[in-house]
Amino acid sequence: MSSILSVRNATKRFGGLTAVDNVSLELGQGEILGIIGPNGAGKTTLFNLISGAMRPDEGEVVFDGERIERMPPHLIAGRGLVRTFQVVKPFSGLTVFENVMVGAFLRRPDPLESEAHALSMLEFTGLIPSADRPAKGLTLASRKRLELARALATDPRVLLLDEVLAGLTPTEGAEMVEVVKSIRDGGVSLLVIEHVMAAIMALSDRIAVIHHGELLAIGKPAQIAKDPRVVEAYLGEEFQIAPD
Ligand SMILES: Nc1ncnc2c1ncn2[C@@H]1O[C@H](COP(=O)(O)OP(=O)(O)O)[C@@H](O)[C@H]1O
Ligand SMILES: [Mg+2]
Repeated sequence: MSSILSVRNATKRFGGLTAVDNVSLELGQGEILGIIGPNGAGKTTLFNLISGAMRPDEGEVVFDGERIERMPPHLIAGRGLVRTFQVVKPFSGLTVFENVMVGAFLRRPDPLESEAHALSMLEFTGLIPSADRPAKGLTLASRKRLELARALATDPRVLLLDEVLAGLTPTEGAEMVEVVKSIRDGGVSLLVIEHVMAAIMALSDRIAVIHHGELLAIGKPAQIAKDPRVVEAYLGEEFQIAPD
């Protein structure tokens, strides 16, 4: 597997708490790597380390052959790695279309080109009917789509999705799964944090399990579902891995 992104021995501490503890993983070109783990396991912090929002105390992040763990997020985005936020934060004073334009401008200084690109991202995510509405009035499902459209408008090669299914109805979730699959079919490699087990099992080529900041297991979904360490780590959690 040729990897586009490598996390090597990454550690992040908050005072006495080790939120990410010596985590190493590789994302293959064109792969969907799911990341699961209980609340507080360190999943979002791992995304913060990869996307440049936080610097690791130890370890490296290599994207496309280049060390990025000390770069600011806008330079990392410029190289083609972007993330969405678990708590969706659109520019609430702007319309849906304008929000996506912010992403589109990253690589398209020409306004006509960036408008055309923003529109095609809105179409891809099913947001055309809401294009001229203020972002603050959107439903949760539409805000999640907007978050995705804005990230996609930057033409990422690697996309990090932080709980894009959380809070969606089963129908909305199933639609979002299809959108994520077609993003991958378009050539993007994805790291996907998700709590909805059925969806992450169906979506991921491999799954990494994070527990107390550590990488507990990584492998194909069927292997992970049977792994006794994984099952044990989730006992008493709000979800359980369904047997196959
Ligand atoms: N900025 C921060 N400052 C202090 N502690 C934090 C910060 N961000 C996260 N944490 C703590 O780090 C741990 C991991 O959090 P997080 O990465 O958000 O977990 P997850 O996304 O898996 O639910 C939690 O105990 C959380 O309270
Ligand atoms: Mg989180």
